[in-house]
Amino acid sequence: MAVREVIRWGDPRLLQPARPVERFDTPELHALVRDLEDTMAALQGAGIAAPQIAVPLQVVIFGGAPSARYPEAPAVPYTVLVNPVLEPLGNHMEEGWEGCLSVPGMRGLVPRHHRLRYRGRDACGAPIERLAEGFHARLVQHECDHLAGILYPMRVRDLRHFGFTDVLFPGQAPADD
Ligand code: NI
Repeated sequence: MAVREVIRWGDPRLLQPARPVERFDTPELHALVRDLEDTMAALQGAGIAAPQIAVPLQVVIFGGAPSARYPEAPAVPYTVLVNPVLEPLGNHMEEGWEGCLSVPGMRGLVPRHHRLRYRGRDACGAPIERLAEGFHARLVQHECDHLAGILYPMRVRDLRHFGFTDVLFPGQAPADD
């Protein structure tokens, strides 16, 4: 178990598509998930994707204890999601503020599908299928975007709504992502 270095916006490894995991319930995959858990916990993230620790595999984790970075957000079940597939439900998009451990100290207003179905597997290979909406759906879309080499600033429609957290939200949000 280890807290790993999170690579940041500008590193070309964040822009590469991640590969599907082919073998489940292996020591390597469980060790990767533990490193993601330790790193997310140390940085108080709401979620993290394997490419953010420079591992180009389709593995994300999200949810769990209320995040200090998103104290207002509703609880999302702690989830390990491998080889995810997202299916938006309906056309309703909504804008919401996002941050990212790879873009520290910043926030942007990002449109996301309000409702979706996601499928994938856990680290043991058991299938996962869930409906999600609101913040839960936003979190899944943000993390799965990392697997396609997309960071949230690439989805900000109006860059007037992108900036430093402590300037956008003085006295409200932690400045140190
Ligand atoms: Ni992120």
